[in-house]
Parts: sequence; C-alpha cells; structure tokens
Amino acid sequence: MKVLTIGGGAREHAAVEALARSGAEIYAVMKNVNPGIQARAAKVLICNEDDLDKICDFAIDNFIEYGFVGPEAPLSAGVVDALQDIGVKCASPTAAAARIETSKSFMRELVTKYGIDGNLRYNSFDTAAEAIDFVKKVDYQVAVKPVGLTGGKGVKVQGDQLQNLDDTIEYINEIFEGHVGGGKVIIEEKAEGEEFTQMVFTNGEDIIPMPLVQDHKRAYEGDTGPNTGGMGSYSDSNHLLPFVTEEDREKALAIVKDIIKALAKEGCPYRGTMYGQFMLTKDGPKIIEINARFGDPEAMNVLTALVSSFSEIIKWEAGGKMKDEVKFSNKATVCKYVVPRGYGVKSEPGHTISIDTESIENSGAIAYYGSVDLKENKLITGTSRSIGVVGIGDTIEEAEQHCEKGLTYIKCDAIYVRHDIGTAPLIQKRIDHMKQIRGQ
Ligand code: AMP
Ligand code: GLY
Repeated sequence: MKVLTIGGGAREHAAVEALARSGAEIYAVMKNVNPGIQARAAKVLICNEDDLDKICDFAIDNFIEYGFVGPEAPLSAGVVDALQDIGVKCASPTAAAARIETSKSFMRELVTKYGIDGNLRYNSFDTAAEAIDFVKKVDYQVAVKPVGLTGGKGVKVQGDQLQNLDDTIEYINEIFEGHVGGGKVIIEEKAEGEEFTQMVFTNGEDIIPMPLVQDHKRAYEGDTGPNTGGMGSYSDSNHLLPFVTEEDREKALAIVKDIIKALAKEGCPYRGTMYGQFMLTKDGPKIIEINARFGDPEAMNVLTALVSSFSEIIKWEAGGKMKDEVKFSNKATVCKYVVPRGYGVKSEPGHTISIDTESIENSGAIAYYGSVDLKENKLITGTSRSIGVVGIGDTIEEAEQHCEKGLTYIKCDAIYVRHDIGTAPLIQKRIDHMKQIRGQ
C-alpha cells in the first residue's frame, strides 16, 4: 500500500513510524528534511506543503493510492480535494470539512445550528470597534481568538495572558491591525477547568476513539508564559486521565460524534482524525477547539500506543472496510518536546543538535524528529519544536522517568524543555484543581 504523507514535524514522524510498522510504502512531502521520516520513506519530495501542483505530480508519478495530511495549512489549501481529483483516497478532510478547524466561527455556528452540547457563548466581529464595544460591556471573562489559523498561538485569555480590559482592547487592535489569522475576531466565554484532548478516527459516519491525552500549551514550567503549539503531553494506561471519568469522556465523544454527523448533513463529510479539545468544567466538557488533524504533540502519545495497523485504519477512513477492532496498548506515555531557546516568544534557531536514538530507546523512550533540518550531515534546529521524546511505562510516573532518561541523550546549547510535564506534583495539581471546580 503506497501512502503519501504530508508534513515534516514530529507528529508526522510518529504517523510515518506507525505506517511503516504496518507495512506501508511511504512517499513523504515536507518542507524540511526530517531525518526520521526520510529514513522510512521510499521517496521524499521537499517542497512547500501547500504546493498542490508539485504534490499531485509526485502522487501521479509514484502511483500513490492513499493520502495522509499532518498539518492544518495544506488542509486549508485544499490538498485533499486536489489529491481526490486525481484518484488518491485520503484519510484527511477536504478544505470544506476542515473548516471545523480553519474557521473558529464556522465551528461555533455549526455547533449552535445543530444544538450540540458543550458550546460556549461566543460572538464574532468584523471590526475592532464592535469587538471592543462588546468586551467593555460583557459581564463574564473572555478568550480572544483570531478567527483563522495562527499555528495555535493566537488565543489570549482574560486572567491568563490578558490581565485587564486595556490588555484585551490592545490585543483586539493588534489582531485587526496585523491582520492576524484573517483579521477577524471571535470572543468566547472563558471556560474554567482542566483541559483534555479526545481524538477519534472517523470514516465520516463511525468513530474509533483514541486514548485521552493532556497537552501543555503554556511555554514555561508551572503553566506560565505564552501559549505555544504544545510543549508536551501525557496519556494514561487506562486511556482516561487522572481527573477525567468515563462519564466525562462519553460526553466528549458524543460531542465529537454529533459534529461529524452535522458536517455530513452540511454536505461536507469528514474523514480522518478529528481532534476535540475540551475544558472539563463543573458542567461537563466544553468545546475549546476542534481540529481537523492529529494534535501535535498528542499524536506522539497515541500513535506510540497504537497496537493495530495504522495502514488498515487509513484505508477504513478513506472508504474501506475495517477487519479488526482497533487496539491501543495499556501503557502510559509522557511526551516532552525539546524546543529551541526562546520558543513561544522568539525562537533562536540554527544550532547544531545531536541525538543518540539507540540510548533513548534503551531508556524505554522513543524520539520523534520535529522542526530540524539535515544540513551537511548535521542536524540543525529550526524555529519550531525540535524533537519530541516519548517515555513509555506501566504508569505515568514510570513513563515520565523514561522520558527524562531519554532526554539526557539529546545535546544542544540552545534548547529548552518543560521538565514538569507528567510529574506527580503537576498531575496532582490538575486533580486538585478539578476537585475544586467540581466543588468536592
Ligand atoms: P486554542 O488555540 O483554541 O487551543 O487555544 C489555546 C489555549 O487557550 C487553550 O488550550 C486554552 O487553554 C485556552 N482557551 C482557548 N479558548 C478558551 C476558552 N473559551 N476558555 C478558556 N480557555 C480557553
Ligand atoms: N496540541 C495542540 C494542537 O495540535 O493544536
């Protein structure tokens, strides 16, 4: 089975490893030379990931059967539509279906129209004046979001990054003046609680849930600093999280399922991985965002734990039949990203980074290459997250220790890691916070 993969980050490296394990022949498109992906690929095309002409020519020349897209930018550019037009079956959504991520107002409007649970109060604005007028009047705290894509870094929340009304107004002006994420804004009610990620595989009708994951968006330890694409994440051996009950999870799954049904009714059926990010509040899970792809870093947790054939899952998502039940191992995983110094504010890329993958594996961990480039046989850091290290263990504690041991085999003089991810004190803080929210 020949699969074209798009994307050169650690999420895509994890997907490529899972595909390789299940016997797929990989044809990789990426803008950087990711050595992990390169090692598994039959052929590599280095080009912009939204260069539809080059990607389609590559697919035709290599008789590609299936397509898998990692990042949101090529989805938004319509790469799936273009590949489908030339007969490639895709396990990722069309541009119309991907609007569930690429337009935050489309997502909220769909959820409202179909009366789906978990919605938050929201208003979208086309001008700064109207948005500012609204935030001056509203009697609850809000999150300010550019409507379009911003690489996960465009959201600012009152009480976190926005300390007062002046900060909020300043940020609204910044979005409109800088045309950030399309230069429109959505103001949402702030949800209080603990976040978790529920991803599912879907063929547009049925869903197969993946283990729950918790990401860490804030750049610095103790959940401080700016929002990033995600600094690391963990999953538990029972596929829940220490502060999420089976009932909470069922509610989140029902929401994702309803969204998939609604998209089909709207004439844009959704195939591939759907990513639901939820805030677990005192009133149950509330939708923070829906993404049209695997989460990064969350993909590294779930794909490391995936026991079943990822190739078979992709075939099913793209319209085939599923033979066996999909299984994930009963192991916990902790992923910590090695990022370039300054990441989240202003990255300092261009440093040599060395990695001893064999010793990492001997530590009970696995490394996925991210934003690094292979230049003259040297691995060089890019501006985004460099390498994800996933520790695997019977408990979160053990997985965390394996991850930390693995991290000692990565050397670079300009990197940063959030070492608190997956540690007992931070997890206890989450459990205590959730108890307090639930009034227990
Ligand atoms: P997003 O890019 O939408 O995932 O937002 C980034 C981060 O901002 C999320 O991980 C949340 O921590 C926070 N956030 C976004 N929307 C809200 C909201 N409505 N209420 C509270 N926090 C939010
Ligand atoms: N980890 C958050 C995201 O992939 O959007």
